Amino acid sequence: MATEYLIEALSIRKYFPITSGLLNRKVGEVRAVDDVSLSVPRGQTYALVGESGSGKTTLGKTLCRIYTPTGGDIKFKGHNIANLPEEQLKPVRRSIQMVFQDPTSSLNPRRRIKEILADPLVIHGVADGKRRMNRVRELMDLVELPQEFLYRYPSGLSGGQRQRVGIARALALEPEFIVLDEPTAALDVSVQAKLVALLKRLQRELGLTYLFITHDLSLVRNIADVVVVMYLGKMVEQAEGPELYQNPLHPYTRALLSSIPVVDDAERELVPAKVPLRGEIPSPANAPPGCPFHPRCDARLELCSRVVPSTRRVKDNHLVACHLFQDDLGG
Ligand SMILES: Nc1ncnc2c1ncn2[C@@H]1O[C@H](COP(=O)(O)OP(=O)(O)OP(=O)(O)O)[C@@H](O)[C@H]1O
Ligand SMILES: [Mg+2]
Repeated sequence: MATEYLIEALSIRKYFPITSGLLNRKVGEVRAVDDVSLSVPRGQTYALVGESGSGKTTLGKTLCRIYTPTGGDIKFKGHNIANLPEEQLKPVRRSIQMVFQDPTSSLNPRRRIKEILADPLVIHGVADGKRRMNRVRELMDLVELPQEFLYRYPSGLSGGQRQRVGIARALALEPEFIVLDEPTAALDVSVQAKLVALLKRLQRELGLTYLFITHDLSLVRNIADVVVVMYLGKMVEQAEGPELYQNPLHPYTRALLSSIPVVDDAERELVPAKVPLRGEIPSPANAPPGCPFHPRCDARLELCSRVVPSTRRVKDNHLVACHLFQDDLGG
C-alpha cells in the first residue's frame, strides 16, 4: 500500500521583500525557503535541522499557513492549502498547530492558565460552559500539570511548566499536525528530557504527526524518524535517523554531525571523520549561485559554483542534493 502522507510540501518557496526608502521600493528579496519538498507520513516525527538562518522557522510557519508561500503547493490530507483564503482556512487552523521556543513570550502574562487554555475553544466555538471547563481540565491532565495551576498566571510557573501550557494550548482543538519550533531550547537539560518524553507519549496516545525544529542534533537522535537538513533555504539531505547518522553524504551534514559530542566508544564509530564547518552562513538575501554550500565546502567541484544540484534519491530512505552524488557528474 502506498504511504499516506498527512502533509506534503511541494517546491515550497517563501521570499521576503527587502524594501528601501520612503516609498518602500523593493530592492531585493530574502529567499528564506527556496524550493523545498517534503512529505510527512501520519504519526511520524520529522526533525528539521540546520544552522541559524537556514529557514527552519519560515518553513514551519509556511506549512502552518501562518505565512502564505511565494510559490509551491502544500497538501494537507490531499487538499492544497497553499493559497486558501483566510475564511476557508478555519478547519486547517484547528488541525495544524505550532509551538514556539519561548513560552514566556507566547503566553499572555495577564491571563490565567485557565483562560489561556480556554481561548482556542472560545475562538473556534467548540465546547461552551461546563464542557469547555472539562476540556481545559483534561488538557492539564494530558500535559501532567496539577489542576491548581489553572488559577495561576504564566509568571507563577517554571519555564518547563509554561512550555507544557504552550503544548496544552496547541492540543486544545485536537490537531493532527504540530510544528514544534525548538520547544526545549530555552530549558535545562533535565527539563528538556522530560518534555521530550511527554511529547512522545502524546504522539503515541493521540496519533500526532510532528515537525520538530531544532539545532540540537543529539536531541534529534532521540525523537526523529526522519531528519531533514536545511542550508540557506534549501533542503540538502533527508534520511531516516540511523541512516543519516551512519551514512551522512552531504558535506554540510557531515560537518554538522562531526560537531556533536560523542558519548561513548560504540557511538564514536558511527561518527564520520571530523570535518570542521568553516566560515559563516551567508545571508539568504545574497545566496551564492549553484550549490548554496559551495563556498564553505572542502569537496566542491568546478560545477558546484554554477549549477544548483537536484535532489537525488540514493536509497529508499535517503535523499541528497549534492553534485558528488549525481549521476550527471560534469553535466
Ligand atoms: N518576516 C521576515 N522578514 C524578512 N526576513 C525574514 C523574516 N523571517 C525570517 N527572515 C529571514 O529569513 C532567513 C531565515 O530565517 P528563519 O528564521 O526561518 O531561520 P531559522 O533556520 O529558523 O533560524 P534560527 O535557527 O535562528 O531560528 C533569515 O535570513 C531571516 O533573517
Ligand atoms: Mg528559527
